[in-house]
Amino acid sequence: MPNRTTISIPLAEIPEGRMLARSAGGREIMVCRTKDGVFAVDDICSHAYARLSEGRLRGFRAICPLHGAAFDVRTGAVLGAPATRPIECFTVSCDATHATITVTDAPELPTTPPPMP
Ligand code: FES
Repeated sequence: MPNRTTISIPLAEIPEGRMLARSAGGREIMVCRTKDGVFAVDDICSHAYARLSEGRLRGFRAICPLHGAAFDVRTGAVLGAPATRPIECFTVSCDATHATITVTDAPELPTTPPPMP
């Protein structure tokens, strides 16, 4: 079973319409707050390499700063080209003061190459 990492962010640091970049469990995460609540998704666009947290948030749409792909932060679904693959979503729970995000840790990459045949 994969390991999980939990991070906690004060809600005061995430006003509505704001995106934050965080690292946890070997992943880059974008945390944002919409009128529907706090959401956490992959910060790296599935089209190429750009940080969604450096783009724009319009309602529940995160818009990539590089080529303009759009993603639904509630589901990770692609809402606009050129991206075709969704981004991963992470579990968020909120209490009165904090958002707690649970991330499945990124798989460890092998440190040595496999032996040559
Ligand atoms: S890198 Fe995000 S749309 Fe191209």
